[in-house]
Amino acid sequence: MKALIAAGGRATRLRPITHTTNKHLIPLAGKPLIEYAIEKIVACGITEIGINVNQGETEIQKVVGDGSRWNARVTYLEQSGGALGLAHVVGNARTWIGNESFIFYLGDNIILGSIEHLAQKFVSEDLDCLLALARVQDPRAFGSPVLDGNRITRVIEKPKDPPSPYAVTGIYFYKPCIFDAIDGLKPSDRGEYEISDAHTRLIDAGKRVGFEEITGWWKDTGRPDDLIEGNGLILDGISVSNISPAANIESGAVIDGIVQIGAGTVISKDSVIRGPVTIGERCRITSAVIGPHTSLSDDVMVDRARVDRCIVMEEASIRSERHIIRSIIGKRVTILDRERSEEAGIHLLVGDQSLIEL
Ligand code: G1P
Repeated sequence: MKALIAAGGRATRLRPITHTTNKHLIPLAGKPLIEYAIEKIVACGITEIGINVNQGETEIQKVVGDGSRWNARVTYLEQSGGALGLAHVVGNARTWIGNESFIFYLGDNIILGSIEHLAQKFVSEDLDCLLALARVQDPRAFGSPVLDGNRITRVIEKPKDPPSPYAVTGIYFYKPCIFDAIDGLKPSDRGEYEISDAHTRLIDAGKRVGFEEITGWWKDTGRPDDLIEGNGLILDGISVSNISPAANIESGAVIDGIVQIGAGTVISKDSVIRGPVTIGERCRITSAVIGPHTSLSDDVMVDRARVDRCIVMEEASIRSERHIIRSIIGKRVTILDRERSEEAGIHLLVGDQSLIEL
């Protein structure tokens, strides 16, 4: 089997972060999102991985490389014609896939469990397609299956009136007949070739479409709050602390719970780290409280602030007495307490589509 990972798209709901960072490279617990998908695929024994990228993409290639880190072989597939939906992503990979079965994995989906049992079911039941389902609070944000006993009869994309309490997650198994179902699809109201419509066409063509419920949690990280929650879920799953011998934890600093701290990072004697937390390399934490459920990338500075349930990206600098909660802070952002001045008010230099809650 091969695997195709979707790592393109526009990611409009994650702006402004995605103006400059591909969504699939946003770090969760210190690791780019897409690497979680690669790990799950490789754990299934699959080493031929195609990654769908936007035209002109270069950053994903720099981070993921040729796949040798995972003993896998990665091929990059540029989506010709632009980000036209998931069915278009699959169709675009047709030549590369050839006549093989494959997993289609959305690179922004993260799961706790493994996908091996799904692969086994797909193969042992000789299915044409297997959909991984997850029970969700609001299926209106997803594709949702119409179920008749243990059969799927249709999949409805973003249903106003959900036909079941399930979402079709972004982990799909296909035989090459999926390409016939994609041929002739019409774009939806949102202008995309919908993978859900392809699934309904497979069913209508009499193909064997099965499903399996995901074990453990599943998260589609399409919105900022999902990223924060996903970061927390991944952090909760880390069971051992790992503090680099080359980190400088000054005596008096309080380290509580599961923490990972990289080389060259300094934690001052009056700081508190409340796990689960990951802190990258060369960070400087002074008189601050970090965590719980917080991840700081490399070269981050935090002075005096309390930072909890946050994702803070490379080289950001927080020098403030504020309590910062549930925030995503982009690369090289500076947050400062304003120096005393005669002038009242706050001072901002904020990029397009930023969100500030005061
Ligand atoms: C896409 C699919 C949807 C699926 C979801 C899973 O939604 O269209 O059927 O449930 O991924 O992550 P989108 O992220 O494009 O809104």
